[in-house]
Amino acid sequence: MGVEMKIAIVGCGGIAKVHAECIHQLENLDMIAYADIKTERARNFADQYGGKVYNTLEEMLEKEKIDALHICTPHYLHVPMAVYALERGIHVFMEKPPVISASQFNELQAVKSDKRLGICFQNRYNPSIIQVKKMISSGETGKINGVRGIVNWSRSKEYYTESGWRGNLATEGGGVLINQSIHTLDLLAYLLGTPVSVDATMTNHHLKGVIEVEDMMEAYIRFEGDKIACFYATTAYCADVPPLIELSCENMTIRIEDLDVTCYYKDGESKKLQIEHKTKLGKSYWGAGHMDCITDYYDSIEKNRPFSLDLNHLNDTILLLLRTYESARTGKEISIR
Ligand SMILES: NC(=O)c1ccc[n+]([C@@H]2O[C@H](COP(=O)([O-])OP(=O)(O)OC[C@H]3O[C@@H](n4cnc5c(N)ncnc54)[C@H](O)[C@@H]3O)[C@@H](O)[C@H]2O)c1
Repeated sequence: MGVEMKIAIVGCGGIAKVHAECIHQLENLDMIAYADIKTERARNFADQYGGKVYNTLEEMLEKEKIDALHICTPHYLHVPMAVYALERGIHVFMEKPPVISASQFNELQAVKSDKRLGICFQNRYNPSIIQVKKMISSGETGKINGVRGIVNWSRSKEYYTESGWRGNLATEGGGVLINQSIHTLDLLAYLLGTPVSVDATMTNHHLKGVIEVEDMMEAYIRFEGDKIACFYATTAYCADVPPLIELSCENMTIRIEDLDVTCYYKDGESKKLQIEHKTKLGKSYWGAGHMDCITDYYDSIEKNRPFSLDLNHLNDTILLLLRTYESARTGKEISIR
């Protein structure tokens, strides 16, 4: 980065470590403050990277002059914290999900600020996704007819009970869809275009009586241009395996598993694409694109150009997320717009 910026992080838990390491590795970004209600967590960051420690976001923003805030708190706090910072003239880079309700979406859209809101859908930066997106845009794949999106992960009782916020509707906003498989849902919208309608069901298979939210979501999604998606996500599996995205296209079937892409052609031949596997921060099965995503966010600020993960660009993903829950709650097929 050419311009020096002062950065703070709010919420110093698991994912904040990945943000801090990315910021630390980027030139001209100076991490000066950390806030967490568990102050010792903020202290750990300050010990490692330098900077001041705060208990609340409000106190941190009152005492420190910062240019950008990274929000790594539980889901229900993303929007109120983003609004608070944007209205005070601070750029915001926020973890997913962007919102947990339609009213939060309205609130975020109504913010008046000339500062930049970026949302962390880092899987769009996976080399596998970049490669497949190019193949679709160039016409190499031919028309897309449909896609399977499948996420099988394992989340234990303790993962929820020890967190203080996961598993509760009011603080997590939902379960496997809004938390673990939101990246795969986003990639379906990114690769297939505008969603038209969704028909979904959800249930809780393995943690009845422990969590209020779903551990399984399945959805049948129609997209413009006669494309369909069959989506299935669960946290009741016995292991964390890479999400599968398989596109059925006119000229080929493309299977994306984590960073691997294989093309299956009509004549029975298949080819695994040579895709560079750079060492990245973060767990691979989440998608390990935080570094590229955060670099692009700050580059967009420096060059005063649009950032592809702002609220406008994510409109389809957010509507698809909210409507999928609406469909699963009501048992009805729901139009996206
Ligand atoms: N992009 C990804 O792939 C990815 C991966 C993991 C987590 N996440 C997201 O990151 C966010 C945080 O997840 P996590 O796993 O790090 O959770 P976590 O529970 O480990 O960390 C959250 C932190 O926020 C702190 N906190 C809670 N309320 C606060 C408040 N009012 N003020 C200040 N701090 C507060 C907690 O004390 C905790 O340290 C979630 O939105 C999650 O969905 C994204």
